[in-house]
Amino acid sequence: MTDDDAGEIDFEIDPEDLEGDVPVVAELGKPSLVVDDVHITYRVFGATKLGSRGAEDKGFLQRILDRRPGVGSGVREVKAIKGVSFVARHGESIGIVGINGSGKSTLLRAVAGLIPPTQGAVYVAGEPSLLGVNAVLMGSLTGERNIMIGGLALGLTEAEVREKFDEIVEFSGIGDSIYLPMKAYSSGMGARLRFAISSAATPDILMIDEALATGDATFRQKSKSRIDQVRAGAGTVFLVSHSIATVQSICTRVLWIHEGELVMDGPTDEVCAAYKTFVRKVRDARSKAAAK
Ligand SMILES: Nc1ncnc2c1ncn2[C@@H]1O[C@H](COP(=O)(O)OP(=O)(O)OP(=O)(O)O)[C@@H](O)[C@H]1O
Ligand SMILES: [Mg+2]
Repeated sequence: MTDDDAGEIDFEIDPEDLEGDVPVVAELGKPSLVVDDVHITYRVFGATKLGSRGAEDKGFLQRILDRRPGVGSGVREVKAIKGVSFVARHGESIGIVGINGSGKSTLLRAVAGLIPPTQGAVYVAGEPSLLGVNAVLMGSLTGERNIMIGGLALGLTEAEVREKFDEIVEFSGIGDSIYLPMKAYSSGMGARLRFAISSAATPDILMIDEALATGDATFRQKSKSRIDQVRAGAGTVFLVSHSIATVQSICTRVLWIHEGELVMDGPTDEVCAAYKTFVRKVRDARSKAAAK
């Protein structure tokens, strides 16, 4: 972790979020998902260490010939997740917290089946959504086309998507921009539309990565009721967020990830309190270092 990382942590504590906003307690059902000793290692190609200029003096062919897995120049491994295990149950809403680069998004993508674990396994009972939808959306197409594609990916029929179209656009609050290519959207607009599409059908497992933090209070309130619907229908919700207030208002349980490892897994209040203490320590250490 670098000092810069610590500087980016933001606690967007919004008083209106907190008022009377307590997660709905749903009956916990059977396991919906089992994550068993998952490891994820990214292999970054073309990564040259600083100061290894020697490699550039060699010819192109020689550099290709030199490139053997894990040997010499060109390949670097990033161990993003190192042996995480947990069991999620129907009706649970699970927050994932941790500072920048701790592995939250990677874990969520693995749980959604978007990246295969390097080691370990993920067992799912039900169909994970959101990331499934994210994978099929295309930036070059309009929001309108993407609603159709995402809806079909969720298993809706064409007629069902048409029926839900207005509701999805309304929910996302992006108005006429729906007829523009998605790559022209701000990151907040994109996140809101993805969330609106993903939760259009009530999925078994709903996964959200930061999307809620990008909306205004009304959007957050609407999102929360969708999440409650999923849980009331015995679904499981995963939420990655830097906003502790959002996590506290939505989640019944929190996983704290640090440097790819699960450091704490427990009730929201306990884990958030411990995480806040840790973040404060990091900040204090940082400002002391800056004052020197
Ligand atoms: N596609 C990738 N290729 C190589 N390394 C990656 C890739 N994606 C993430 N990483 C690395 O894996 C680690 C975990 O990244 P990840 O995006 O999961 O963190 P995060 O907790 O979601 O961070 P943030 O809070 O900034 O969103 C980081 O060291 C990151 O640099
Ligand atoms: Mg992330």
